[in-house]
Amino acid sequence: MTSKTTIPVHLDINGQHHTLELEPRVTLLDALRDRLGLTGTKKGCDHGQCGACTVHVDGERVLACLTLAAQAEGRAITTIEGLAREGELHPVQAAFLEQDAFQCGYCTPGQIMSAVACIREGHAGSDEEIREYMAGNLCRCGAYPHIVAAVRQAALEAAS
Ligand code: FES
Ligand code: FES
Repeated sequence: MTSKTTIPVHLDINGQHHTLELEPRVTLLDALRDRLGLTGTKKGCDHGQCGACTVHVDGERVLACLTLAAQAEGRAITTIEGLAREGELHPVQAAFLEQDAFQCGYCTPGQIMSAVACIREGHAGSDEEIREYMAGNLCRCGAYPHIVAAVRQAALEAAS
C-alpha cells in the first residue's frame, strides 16, 4: 500500500499568498494549473524541453515543469497572469500583439515570460542575442521571426 503524504506549501504568486496541501513531488506547473486554475502557464512536453511552462521565480525565469512547488516556497512567483497591471498589458505583451508574434498561441505565455527576462537581463542587444536567449522556447507554428521582432521592439521601448 502506498501512503500519500501531503505537506503544506506556501506560495506567493503574482502578489497573492496561497497555502496548498501537496504531495512533495508535485511540480510548480501542476500546482499552478491543476490546483490554482492558473492555466495561462502551458504544459507542453512536461520534460524541460519546450519552454511552454516558463514562469519567473524571484525575477529569474524557470521551467515550472522541472521545479517542485515546494522548492518555490517563500519565493516570489510571477506567471503570465501577473504581468498586466491595472488592466494595462505589459509592454512585451503589447509588442507581441503588434508584431503578430503568435499563431495558435500555445507557446506564447512561455515566450513572453522568457522575453521579459531576456530584456531585463540585458540579452536583447541584437537579433542574434535574442534568438540565443530564447532558444529554449519552441514554437511549433514557426512564428520565430515575429517573436524576435516583438522582443526587439519591447527592448527598444524599454531603453527609450
Ligand atoms: S512543459 Fe516545461 S519545458 Fe515543456
Ligand atoms: S504560436 Fe503556435 S506554437 Fe507558437
